[in-house]
Amino acid sequence: MAVLNVIDRDGNEAVIESDTGYSIMDVLQANGQDVAAICGGVASCATCHVYVSPEVMATLPPLEGDEQVLVEESEYYKEGQSRLSCQIQFTEALDGIQVILAPED
Ligand code: FES
Repeated sequence: MAVLNVIDRDGNEAVIESDTGYSIMDVLQANGQDVAAICGGVASCATCHVYVSPEVMATLPPLEGDEQVLVEESEYYKEGQSRLSCQIQFTEALDGIQVILAPED
């Protein structure tokens, strides 16, 4: 189990305690967060766009490939903070991180 802190698009904060081994997108959806994830997690829609802090970003695998293309195309792209939550595995190492749901494009 690990904790995922979430700030939704209205600024509401949620503390989610979840099993690990799922994508962050899966954890968000399973806990009622408004993440459309219309492609089902294959990095082709960007409706699971979230922001993480630069400190968290430094601990994640690098942004590259389809994920990089999609977030950089987003109107709401923030350099050094934007990620696709379907491409990040929620692991014990990420216990306690915060994600902020990006506005919908
Ligand atoms: S769910 Fe479609 S890109 Fe993440």
